[in-house]
Parts: sequence; C-alpha cells; structure tokens
Amino acid sequence: MTDTTVTPFPTGFLWGGATAANQVEGAFDEGGKGLSVQDVMPRGIVAPRTAEPTPDNLKHEAIDFYHRYAEDIALFAEMGFSVYRFSIAWSRIFPNGDETEPNEEGLAFYDRVLDELEKHGIEPLVTISHYETPLHLAETYDGWVSRDLIGFYERYARVLLERYGSRVTYWLTFNEINSLLHAPFMSGGINTPREELGEQALYQAMHHELVASARVTRLAHEIAPQARIGCMVLSMPIYPLTASPDDALAVMASDHANLVYGDVHTRGHYPGYFLRTLREKGIELDITDQDRDDLTNTVDFVSFSYYMSIAETAGEREVGEGNIMGGVENPTLDKSEWGWAIDPVGLRLVLNQFWDRWQKPLFIVENGLGARDELVEVDGVKTVVDDYRISYLNDHLVQVGEAVLDGVEVLGYTAWGCIDIVSASTAQLSKRYGFIYVDRNDDGSGSLARHRKKSFDWYSEVIRTNGASLAR
Ligand code: BG6
Repeated sequence: MTDTTVTPFPTGFLWGGATAANQVEGAFDEGGKGLSVQDVMPRGIVAPRTAEPTPDNLKHEAIDFYHRYAEDIALFAEMGFSVYRFSIAWSRIFPNGDETEPNEEGLAFYDRVLDELEKHGIEPLVTISHYETPLHLAETYDGWVSRDLIGFYERYARVLLERYGSRVTYWLTFNEINSLLHAPFMSGGINTPREELGEQALYQAMHHELVASARVTRLAHEIAPQARIGCMVLSMPIYPLTASPDDALAVMASDHANLVYGDVHTRGHYPGYFLRTLREKGIELDITDQDRDDLTNTVDFVSFSYYMSIAETAGEREVGEGNIMGGVENPTLDKSEWGWAIDPVGLRLVLNQFWDRWQKPLFIVENGLGARDELVEVDGVKTVVDDYRISYLNDHLVQVGEAVLDGVEVLGYTAWGCIDIVSASTAQLSKRYGFIYVDRNDDGSGSLARHRKKSFDWYSEVIRTNGASLAR
C-alpha cells in the first residue's frame, strides 16, 4: 500500500481531465448549432480550410459526447476526478455569433452536462472559447481582426455567466490565446489567407482578444463574484541552443513573444518590450482610452497547456515539429511519434517561471502524450497497455510536485484528452491522449464504444493518493 501521507501536492489539489467541444461533442448540426471554423477544417491546421463542411471531417461526429456525456462523466467520476475542463461551443449558443438572442437548446445541453458533473461532485472548469469561433463571424467579419468581435464575445460570455455563474467557479476566457499569430483561422477565426494577412491586422486582432478577455473578466467579477477567472496560454520553455549570449538574446525575444499575453493579463497593460516590437515593425495599434481602462481588469489565476519545450538560436534554425508554434529542435530530448519533444523538467521550469513572473496561482489545464494505441484483450477485457503514457504522465507529475516544493502555487492538473478525442493539429483520432479508449478510427469507422486503458487505473490511484503513488 502506498503511504498516502508523503506527497508534495496540497490538500484540495484539483485532479482531472480536459477536452474541447469541437474535439468531443460531434452533433455538429444538431440542437440548433451553427457551423464553427472547425467544421471546415477536416485536416486540422495542417491543411487550408475547405469552402464548405465536407463529410470526411471527423469532428462532425467526434466521439459523440453530445449524446454520451453521462456515460463519459461517470467514467471520469470512477477515476476520481475532482475537476473536468470542457469548452462551450460558441456556435451552439449563438449559431452565427452576431445574433442578439441565444439558442435555448444549446444552453440546455450544458445545463445537463453541469447536472451530471454536480451529481458526481466534479468541479467544472469552463473554457469560453476553444478554437470554435462561429464560422459566420470568420466569413463576415474576418474574425478577431474586427473590433465587433469584442461585443459579440462579451454578449456570449454574459449569457454563460448569467446562466451558469452560480454553478461554475473556474472560467478560462480563450484557449491558448498566444496561438493567434501562429494559427489565425483556428485560433482567431481570421478568414483572410495567411499569405495575404499583414502583421498590422494580426496584432490588432490580438489586441481585440486581450481587451475582450479583460472585459469578460470584469463582467464575471460583477455577475458571479465567487467565480475565478483565468487566462490560458500555450507554454513553451525555450532553451538556448548554445551558451552564446546571442542565443540567450534569441531566447529572450522568443520568450517575450509568448509571454506578452500573460503579462497583459496579469499586469493590466502592455510591457515596454512589446511596445518596442510594435514600433520597430511600424505597427500602430488602434487602442482607445476605454481599451486601456478595460485591460486593467486582471485575471485571478493563470492556466496553461504544456506538452514540450524547444530550443532557440541566433544562428541557423533547424525547426522541428511541435505544438502549433514549433521551434528549434533540442538534440538532447526524445520525441513523441508526432515529433513533439518530451521534457518533464520543462514543466517544472515553466511553473517556476510563471510563478516568479506573475505571482498568480497556476492551473495546468493541458498535458499529455499523443500516441498510437493498440486495443488488446487482457483476461477477456478489451484494454490498452499504455505504459508509455503512464511513464510520460508520471514523470511530468513528479515535476509538478517538485514545483510545489519550490513554492509555486498550483491549483490543479487536468490531463489533456482524458478520453480519446480528435486531434486539433491533425484532426486524427489515432493521435490518442486518453485514459479511456474510444473505438473510432481515422476513416470514421468504429462502434464508439469506450474501454478503460491501463492508465485509467494508474491515474485513479494517483488521484486517490493525492500524488503519493507517483514513481519518483
Ligand atoms: C492544444 C490545444 O494546443 O494542444 C488542444 O489546446 C489540442 O485543442 C492539444 O488538442 C493537443 O494537440 P493535438 O494537435 O495533438 O490535438
């Protein structure tokens, strides 16, 4: 038996998993839902959008969470989850995004999801916008390039806060807000093709999202005073490729480009290094006095995804695969089957960096290993012997424990894709993250049946012992 008294994780640490609506729900045209940008991205971000929704889009049915949420949440409860992060599909609530009245059927669906979570004593963690901008807003307004999006998003968020504010404590405004410049269509609903998109428009879109996030933070504090509002950034620790000062400077520049979003969310204004970047690029943002005032509404906590680290150099850059932004390959690290560097220590580093820099509680809302799984039968039961996933998660969680011992305040950990889902970057189902296997293949075949993997029992034990069972 594990000695459950020896653990760095504080009492009340929230353990759970995370998903996003477009990657799990399916039912893309049911319940009055409108199309989102995901409905024309059958290949994820690795190919341009299609003109219309096409039948080969796995996200249209995804894993059918829309109809199977009760069964799935029961499995999360069986693992002992105390928190479940999910996103609300904007186009279920406002099918086009610019209506004045919400779609009641969409709201009722999330009522049912919240009922189910409440039944099992699982805390909801809600992402208001996770790569799901209504397609109409992309096609008619060019997404977040338009200032109008601030008002549409605020109206949408107000509806959510008024409806669910008394039931949901933890809210995230935008998933990986710092991915906007790297994936403008998916992240910002910006329809103009990348090649035609100028930096002026991109940075203006970034400003609009930051203002929208701050306005909704204020709104949430007014409507639901007990709520805690967080921003969500894609974290990517960056190492100098060599010890040369020029490489260290290159790291600083890259870091600044990523950290500016967290800086604004926690400090309430743009940092000097960012204003310099704008000046040097010859960009003049349209920032009103009202915007400046709005930005002072800072977040209660910072949440982030962590999958991998990168290197940076002032010399020749050999860029490898990676989560949306990619980066210079680090020759010291192993990689996943999709070429993402595996670096548990990077998680401890990023936790310390964020804590030192922002002094806000941190929430790890995404982390995990995308891998191909093989369904086998053990003692007559279908399962996956995913020791590689257990080892990845174990080593990362050990580093979270180290960061807690370093004095970092960590609220919780939600493993990404706690049930197999459609990948965001490649739109594959074969890139699996889950503790629960879903019988669906890249060609769309499969029964959608759920099977517990070996990691299911492993994670249950980690949660039961509050991290004491981790192998150090
Ligand atoms: C994050 C996204 O970037 O990474 C998720 O917030 C995504 O939506 C996750 O699924 C893992 O990436 P991928 O491409 O393996 O699905």
